[in-house]
Amino acid sequence: MRGVLLAGGNGSRLWPLTRAMSKQLMPVFDKPMIYYPLTTLMMAGVRETLVVTTPDSEEQFRRLLGDGTQWGIRLRYAPQPHPGGIAQALLIAEEFLAGESVALALGDNLLHGAGLGRHLRTLHPVSGAHIFAYAVADPTAYGVITFDSSGRALSIEEKPSHPRSSYAVPGFYFYDSSAVKIARELRPSTRGELEITAVNQEYLRRGELRVSVLGRGTAWLDTGTFDDLVQASEYVRVVEDRQGQKIGCVEEAAWRCGFIDDDQLRALAAPLRASGYGDYLLRLLAEPRPATTTVGESA
Ligand code: DAU
Repeated sequence: MRGVLLAGGNGSRLWPLTRAMSKQLMPVFDKPMIYYPLTTLMMAGVRETLVVTTPDSEEQFRRLLGDGTQWGIRLRYAPQPHPGGIAQALLIAEEFLAGESVALALGDNLLHGAGLGRHLRTLHPVSGAHIFAYAVADPTAYGVITFDSSGRALSIEEKPSHPRSSYAVPGFYFYDSSAVKIARELRPSTRGELEITAVNQEYLRRGELRVSVLGRGTAWLDTGTFDDLVQASEYVRVVEDRQGQKIGCVEEAAWRCGFIDDDQLRALAAPLRASGYGDYLLRLLAEPRPATTTVGESA
């Protein structure tokens, strides 16, 4: 399975913050936003990812993330000339995907929860589509999914003004190889975008859409507005401060997944010591880990 990580868009809901700098490079507490969905992809076992950026920001992402070899993964880059919708990324990625299934992650979404990585790894290889549902207080800004009385997905709507359920669809999707063909047949929506919700609707129509509900033990935050951005930073700060464990730490994820060894982690830590981030990585190496399984082990 290959990954596609979306880091384009014009971020206009965060202007002037994002006028000169890509939204997915904004800080979420102690890391750039894109570290969080990249970590989720890695914890899901994805080692080859295409980062889709605006033409202007590709260079900055390259400077931050490189080609991924330092984390035992492969990163490639592709520009999206205009923000033509999330599903357009599937068309941009067609050659990169080469007929493989795909984990599509939005660069402004943060997922964190007990056993999430392990759960995601059980979901591929995927046939059809596998998406997620998450209860939120106000679903109007999201794709919204409804279920029938036996719990089967019934409908998905994009940003309904009168949502028929409280289940929003987070920005992390698994698709089989037919996703590219489905995206190719889409027409732009009224807001001029190839909607990812339309891809999900097509899988639903075919009877090939599976949905997992992410429960209360999982946090899903997106960072679309000023308030969302501050809330995400607060969430990360509070949990990291209490646990002494980082969320969305790419270096740690690479090490825990076995993509890099102790020496490589030590080398990554060295230039990051002035901020304390490197010391955190070194502590991981120093501290013996319990042999027992942790209840609610985190991704
Ligand atoms: O956050 C989850 C929601 O994301 C889903 O529930 C919705 O169904 C889905 O449409 C999407 O809604 P948003 O309106 O929040 O999407 P937004 O335009 O903010 O874009 C999400 C990310 O994708 C963001 O990091 C920018 C990037 N993006 C977006 C577009 C439209 C691109 O890279 N290229 C694009 O053309």
